Amino acid sequence: MKKMIIAGNWKMNTLPNEAENLVSNIISGIQNKDYKSEIVVCPPFTNLQTVSTLIYNSKIKLGAQNCFYEPKGAFTGEISIPMLKFFDVEYIIIGHSERRTYFSETDELINKKAKAILESGLKPIICIGETLQEREQGKTFEILFNQLDLCLKDLKDKNFSNIVIAYEPVWAIGTGISATTEQIEEAHNEIKHYIGKKFNLNEDDIVLQYGGSVTADNSEEILSIKNVNGALIGGASLKSEIFLKIIDIAENILQS
Ligand code: PGA
Repeated sequence: MKKMIIAGNWKMNTLPNEAENLVSNIISGIQNKDYKSEIVVCPPFTNLQTVSTLIYNSKIKLGAQNCFYEPKGAFTGEISIPMLKFFDVEYIIIGHSERRTYFSETDELINKKAKAILESGLKPIICIGETLQEREQGKTFEILFNQLDLCLKDLKDKNFSNIVIAYEPVWAIGTGISATTEQIEEAHNEIKHYIGKKFNLNEDDIVLQYGGSVTADNSEEILSIKNVNGALIGGASLKSEIFLKIIDIAENILQS
């Protein structure tokens, strides 16, 4: 069966009471159902403790939106992987285009974070994606393959049981304009093919999410694409009823 991970990236949203409401609604929505997909929520750091406590013993897994690669020390403002591990974080999003754009994160930095996350037994969700200008210039795959080369440098085939890649075209994030089915299908086929060849992996063993304006309305079409293993969802993950709808859609696809 294909692997499906539905992850909510809450970004810089939710005060503690809002996080509590949101995750409590998600927990009640999935109660007593036997889900085959993985469900992950990635709240801001300040809500990790609240959410971690509430999801204890539920089907929901915890993710963080960033980390630093050093385990501790004089790095003012940073959060280490052991700190995240303490709250039972399992996934860490790295290389998100918002961090690349607003905080000048490079592929080299993302690679250091990926290695540190894997070494500590957690799972990186490594985001890659082209800008609109790059797509219009016909450079999409040159950009994606270059990001993959640098972000995955020195990693081994065995690491892929713990790696999630998220294809997130920059122009589709938060814009309400999702990539078309054809664009997603093409990108996912190419990315899996590239990684499969580079690391000598079976393409079905590579977990590749799509992200960028996923909603309840377009998720059936997107998640049905063969090489799409779930979604990284921003805006639509902040409304429990929409997030739950997407989870149900993913489940129907897996069970059909
Ligand atoms: P979006 O964000 O769903 O709001 O487009 C996706 C993401 O940034 O991961």
